[in-house]
Amino acid sequence: MSRNDSSSFLAPALICCGCLAACRQDMHDQPKIEPLEASPFFSDGRGSRPLLASTVARGLLREDDHLHRGRVGGQVAEDPPFAIDRALVDRGRERFDVFCAPCHDRVGTGRGMVVRRGLRSPPSFHVDRLRRAPIGHFFDVMTSGFGLMASYSSQIPPEDRWAIAAYVRCLQLAQHARIGDVPAQLRPRLTRPSPPTQGNRQRATGNRQRASARIRGVMGLAEAGR
Ligand code: HEC
Repeated sequence: MSRNDSSSFLAPALICCGCLAACRQDMHDQPKIEPLEASPFFSDGRGSRPLLASTVARGLLREDDHLHRGRVGGQVAEDPPFAIDRALVDRGRERFDVFCAPCHDRVGTGRGMVVRRGLRSPPSFHVDRLRRAPIGHFFDVMTSGFGLMASYSSQIPPEDRWAIAAYVRCLQLAQHARIGDVPAQLRPRLTRPSPPTQGNRQRATGNRQRASARIRGVMGLAEAGR
């Protein structure tokens, strides 16, 4: 092949490569219209079609005012929309500890960790006003927010909000229950040895301090032996 021949072959090849590179289409940039992207195809210039008035996504009709808004006949509900059983209260407790305890603390006195770090203290659930409030009020506070407190409706589905409200009722009862409220067969459990007293706690702290002194001692020996 002469020198001329090879250059007459190379030039078109290079041009071809250049063209191919320029026409490159990455997978992340596909020729489709993304949500809310502009498009000259429709006369209003929008790629997405506006929803028809009163369109409701499947499964999101939320017709039941009691279940979704905690209201019956426009008034805050006095009762939950379904029966409350042990499993539901357990679920409520678990969700309460996740979503509410950071501020309201685990028994609902309003001294959660976020409050101890500076947020304004919420009222205790054990004040008379909130003990007398209908269960729907707690659902309503979670659904719409209350003063400084944000709404939790986008994070907690309505069934779980009711479960939490039922658990708040349990917390309230627990702080004001009398021995007569406890079923007779469960009363012996209340007379079990109480959790650590002040004296036990001091002993535990002493043990911890001695243990860490021992660890420091061992580490000191290791340092000296090096
Ligand atoms: C980030 C902290 C925070 C979290 C988390 C939080 N709250 Fe609150 N809550 C507040 C504060 C602050 C107030 C007081 C708001 C005010 O009065 O402006 C309040 C008030 C309330 C009240 C009292 C309303 C009244 O009538 O006075 C209820 C009931 C309540 N919260 C329930 C809940 C429940 C149930 C959850 C969990 C789903 C929750 N909160 C999660 C901070 C929080």
